[in-house]
Amino acid sequence: MTYNITVLDGDGIGPEICKGAVAVLEAVGKKFGHTFNFTHRLIGGCAIDETGVPLPEETLESCLKSDSVLLGAVGGPKWDGLSGDLRPEAGLLGIRKAMGLFTNIRPARLWKSLKDASPLKSALVEGGVEIIIVRELTGGIYFGKRESGTDENGQLYASDTEKYTVEEIERVTKVACELASKRRKKIVSVDKANVLESSRLWRKTVHEYAAKNYPDIEVEDMFVDNCAMQIVKNPAQFDVVLTSNIFGDILSDEAAEITGSIGMLASSSLGYGTRGLYEPIHGSAPDIAGKDVANPIATILACAMMLRDSFSLLDECKSIEDAVQKVLDDGYRTKDIMSEGMKETGCTEMYMLIAGNI
Ligand code: IPM
Ligand code: MG
Repeated sequence: MTYNITVLDGDGIGPEICKGAVAVLEAVGKKFGHTFNFTHRLIGGCAIDETGVPLPEETLESCLKSDSVLLGAVGGPKWDGLSGDLRPEAGLLGIRKAMGLFTNIRPARLWKSLKDASPLKSALVEGGVEIIIVRELTGGIYFGKRESGTDENGQLYASDTEKYTVEEIERVTKVACELASKRRKKIVSVDKANVLESSRLWRKTVHEYAAKNYPDIEVEDMFVDNCAMQIVKNPAQFDVVLTSNIFGDILSDEAAEITGSIGMLASSSLGYGTRGLYEPIHGSAPDIAGKDVANPIATILACAMMLRDSFSLLDECKSIEDAVQKVLDDGYRTKDIMSEGMKETGCTEMYMLIAGNI
């Protein structure tokens, strides 16, 4: 089969990690007899420099024509002074919205060989940890009404709005329920219903929808502040976590870190169809860009998710996960997951090793 993939390298370490991901996909293509065609397009800061906008028309067109999209990372201090809709991040939000990617799946799993890299006491993670965060991605405060100005007392103000419709909550709940049906049949739904009206609608809708359509799924509610605490106190209690855009953004960084490094966590963003956007959850790390020390594993694992979720290539997906496991078992580590007695590698060496193990 032939698959057309748009690659949005982006800024900072984006180009290095995408290069690694492409090398691994090419190795998969060779082994399993598939052709992956890659079209590189601009997004974020590099797009601003080149075209004046973070999401050029040409980029959007290519993404909408592709079978799937791989993204590195966007942003950097160079563009921090720009106004909201012209920042690199606006390109990322814009592409998520334009592709209709309302569900973001972020699996934080502790790799056995990386137990020592977790900042938590080993007793807490010994039994393994796999928290799958299902984050709503095209609604909430990220896309609600924004305002700034001067109020009646002459004070400068700014505001952002958290708004959810029942339909937006239901469609992401469905994805979480489907996922949970194949796992522990339990969802922890995270909100702030003790304070926010939007959270009270979230909670009511998740319960009603799940009870009606997935009666065998248990839904437990958790306030977001408690959830943040529980993730470090007893991470093994979690399996599928369903939450809003902003809470998912925050909790996924936390969940990633307890599994060793944010450099290991991949994400898949999907809408109604099979075309998705796959990216690491970490940022563009401008401080280490171009130094060949970035960890390419999150982006490589994002490719594994693409093979599974967009193309239904399960053996191919597994070949990537197994290759990552093998390289970790062999003791190779990038700087972020380095520990005593292991072999430190750069970004290039790491992805070559993984590609070599496909
Ligand atoms: C993420 C990132 C983005 C987000 C930023 C870069 C806009 O933090 O994917 O988690 O907040 O969604
Ligand atoms: Mg984030």
